[in-house]
Amino acid sequence: MYTIIQSFGSLGYPESKSTIVLGNPTQVYASPHPVLCLPPLPSSPRSTPCCLQLSSSLRVLRLSTAVRSFFLPALQRRVTCAAGQQTANAACCALFPVLEDIQTNMFAGDTCSDASHTALRVAFHDAIGFSTTQKSFGTGADGSIFLFGETELGFDANLGIADAFNLEVPFIKKHNISVADFIQFAATVSLTKCPGILQPPFMFGRVDATAPAPDGTVPEPFQNVDVILARMADAGLTAADTVALLASHSIAGADDVDPTLSGLPFDSTPSIFDTQFFVETQLRGTLFPGSSGNQGEVMSAIAGEIRLQSDHLLARDTATNCLWQANVNNQAHMASSFQAAFLKMGLLGQDVSKMVDCSDVIPTPPPLAAANAQSVFPPGLTHADVEQACATTMFPNLATAPGAALTVPQIVQSPLTDGDCDDDGEGCDFSSFA
Ligand code: HEM
Repeated sequence: MYTIIQSFGSLGYPESKSTIVLGNPTQVYASPHPVLCLPPLPSSPRSTPCCLQLSSSLRVLRLSTAVRSFFLPALQRRVTCAAGQQTANAACCALFPVLEDIQTNMFAGDTCSDASHTALRVAFHDAIGFSTTQKSFGTGADGSIFLFGETELGFDANLGIADAFNLEVPFIKKHNISVADFIQFAATVSLTKCPGILQPPFMFGRVDATAPAPDGTVPEPFQNVDVILARMADAGLTAADTVALLASHSIAGADDVDPTLSGLPFDSTPSIFDTQFFVETQLRGTLFPGSSGNQGEVMSAIAGEIRLQSDHLLARDTATNCLWQANVNNQAHMASSFQAAFLKMGLLGQDVSKMVDCSDVIPTPPPLAAANAQSVFPPGLTHADVEQACATTMFPNLATAPGAALTVPQIVQSPLTDGDCDDDGEGCDFSSFA
């Protein structure tokens, strides 16, 4: 339910007087601060629509009859880009050549595997360089992670982000959109490789950074829950947003936490955006997939699978354990809360009123197979292996998957993430953006 918190009149639209029900729900995203984009006024020199943040209390939008008669038909209006694609806004045409190139060449053959995971992680590490209290913490989703890679790639928390530099920078150089937009666009497209993802929205028009984010903005896997939640809150993300965003670890793994092994998955289905991550992190840890004694790693319940200390603690801490458990066997909740939180994350530090809704450029994700829609206990494990943490609701009763105990295979590494740029900064061509 939505109500406008900014007067349309101040934007050049006629003053609002009457009340209508929003005609096109795809223009409003379910998040604590949904975004509504108005098309440009025909009489206005404004070339892109204005986007407003909405508070969630009323199901109606207050618009004058004049705005209503213009606005609703315009929502259905489409423009045709030079190469024939249709979109709601001419500004979005710039994204189609980028999409075609990265689909064909950057994500070539990737089905929610290493290249997708790499593109998703860097979007977080870029966006989180922001603070609602300290200006010096960066300007959020602003491309600084690459633009100032010489500084930021050297931070401990960004170990492995060199893979994303190798993967994306050759494509960034070929296209004329901001580095900030490229990073979030590539991450949004990467999500559409993963069955289980809800259609991700995309806002276009980020402004590039003029300075690096300082060290310390990216949470570390060895930090305790208070520290992680405080950092996320300072960037504008609640505990609920944090847990929602960590659904990304359902399609992820670690290359550098255990220095002896790369591509260690965080759950048994790292190419499917399903709820298994939230089940498996709640099970009693019994083993390490490789070496022991690594900072930020605790024992996992399944051979081949790695568990971050941070995920382990977030699953158990009173501040987050019920939020964590709420994702178990609830694909719809996991997918919709991630969709909203990911949109919010990608807008950190940016002026949404100057951005354009280009959601209709984003491809459709593959469907989730029925077999992955329900959570299960991995073979050989049962409710007795759950470390119950949420005090108010019992962990759901799940079936145990049939078969022998799992050994989850390593995620195959994409050669495109393995370029000249090394984790220590050697070989990275930082002059590319000069
Ligand atoms: C909030 C605390 C978080 C911590 C402490 C954390 C920590 C980590 C660590 C240590 C890794 C393994 C890196 C490596 O060794 O290769 C990792 C991987 C990953 N993380 Fe997170 N993360 C957090 C949140 C997020 C968020 C919010 C997202 C995205 C929205 C995200 C997406 C990913 C992805 C996709 C990977 C896999 C990267 C790959 O396989 O190349 N993480 N994370």
